[in-house]
Amino acid sequence: MSIKAVIFDLDGVVVSTDEYHYRAWKKMADEEGVYFDRSINERLRGISRTESLEIILEKSNKKYSSDEKLKMTEKKNNIYKQLLNELTSNDILDGVIDLLIYLKEHNIKIAIGSSSKNTKMILSKIGLENYFDKVADGNEIKNSKPDPEVFLLAANKLGIKAEECLIVEDADSGVEAALAGNMKVLAVGSASNNIKADYRIKTLENLNVFKKIMKI
Ligand code: BG6
Ligand code: MG
Repeated sequence: MSIKAVIFDLDGVVVSTDEYHYRAWKKMADEEGVYFDRSINERLRGISRTESLEIILEKSNKKYSSDEKLKMTEKKNNIYKQLLNELTSNDILDGVIDLLIYLKEHNIKIAIGSSSKNTKMILSKIGLENYFDKVADGNEIKNSKPDPEVFLLAANKLGIKAEECLIVEDADSGVEAALAGNMKVLAVGSASNNIKADYRIKTLENLNVFKKIMKI
């Protein structure tokens, strides 16, 4: 079956916001006195804000009320949004723009499938708010990755069957989500060693990989 659409994860695939997620969680955790490091951060890729906090709090002996947890996620999001103030098109990851142009030229539909509730704001800051055919994000789903919900929603909005979509992901949870949704998946960056993915690549700079996958 040929690929008719490419659905991109946002953070860590299109734009380098993954580093800002880390810094914001780190600041929140430090202020709460909870141990947090980059290896724990890897487990948060693709995971919703509230589920991320639960993973971080595994390192704490303290019991937090749901109100305290809500305050912590709000605090993290405020720090994160402050860091995003400086976000511009310079933060778009290498190879992304050339790839998007190439896919459009070949009449392949493009969409975003992200767990982030900040998706629209980020797309606007990097100047890509009107670039994708459809956007599905964390505001529209009940279950975040590894559940396939956000990708199935994006495919549905595009009007393309799941098996005709290629997902591009930097998170192991996103690779799982794509496979659970019966979609093909290209793992990049942090997920580029994931052997479950159909295809793997370090960065999106090499268009030849896409030419082979898409047969275009
Ligand atoms: C994903 C990130 O894209 O979005 C996760 O990989 C993040 O790290 C999740 O927790 C939710 O993001 P936000 O912006 O809604 O807090
Ligand atoms: Mg990601």
